[in-house]
Amino acid sequence: MTPENRPEIPLRLNDRPTSARAYGWMLGGKDNYEIDRDFLLGTLPSFPECVDIARQNRRFLFRAVRYLAREAGIRQFIDMGCGLPTDDNVHQVARRFAPDARVVYVDIDPIVLAHGRALLADDAGTTVITGDMRDQQALLDHPEVRRLIDFGEPVAVLFLSVVHHLTDADQPRRVLRSIIDQAAPGSHLCLSQVVADDPVRGAGMTAHITDQGIPWRTRTPAEVDAFLDGLDPVEPGLVNLDHWRPDADQPPLAPVAAELRPYLGAGLRDTGIYEYGGVLRKG
Ligand SMILES: C[S@@+](CC[C@H](N)C(=O)[O-])C[C@H]1O[C@@H](n2cnc3c(N)ncnc32)[C@H](O)[C@@H]1O
Repeated sequence: MTPENRPEIPLRLNDRPTSARAYGWMLGGKDNYEIDRDFLLGTLPSFPECVDIARQNRRFLFRAVRYLAREAGIRQFIDMGCGLPTDDNVHQVARRFAPDARVVYVDIDPIVLAHGRALLADDAGTTVITGDMRDQQALLDHPEVRRLIDFGEPVAVLFLSVVHHLTDADQPRRVLRSIIDQAAPGSHLCLSQVVADDPVRGAGMTAHITDQGIPWRTRTPAEVDAFLDGLDPVEPGLVNLDHWRPDADQPPLAPVAAELRPYLGAGLRDTGIYEYGGVLRKG
């Protein structure tokens, strides 16, 4: 999106960092404020893996959506916590392999709606709505969801790099399962979240990010696995996202900002903090 057609953002959205804008900066995006950049530059000395984690997650999104459209035959997607539009958004990836794919984008941050509308204008097969993934019934009842999603057919529900935004009080298992457990056989759940093998380090990360006003809970891989009983993991299962069907030839991401470049590669050093996830099928 060019600066000329970038939507105006109300100033009240600028008083604390947001996940959408900070994550977008790590992907090479320009739609962020000093408060978002300061948040990240204050976080990276303690958790230098974050830039690689964000970029690895976004690369996983491409491979997972490609798998869902090309190999699993999915034609309808609900992208929970979709983030700011960037290159290779879900509908763009899916339609390379399934031109009739339909996508509902959901995000709690109104900035996403503002930017998403600009991207999706005149596209009857996609929509972006402001919504809270914790209120699944409101999403199911939303007229745009009802317009685009046929729950009699398989659907893919994506929770990419958003499960860590669900605190334990949010009952993440309920949130992750409420649509997929009612969906048609052949539906898929695709998820990822930041994990720490060492729960003490994970708790430090949770405290640091929560203190900045962003709901967050770093988990262990076993804690994530516990949400997913009864679903069939697609090969290679739930893993460090770098190991989920790696593809050296997939499209590159935008270059990272100069201030973040010193942190590139920190996530490859086996520090025990990484993004964990995969794709699961409902039988
Ligand atoms: C790290 S970004 C991930 C973006 C995208 N899913 C991806 O993988 O590239 C997390 C997004 O989740 C959104 N989010 C956080 N809590 C949410 C909630 N309760 N409901 C809907 N969206 C939420 C944030 O606004 C942000 O845009």
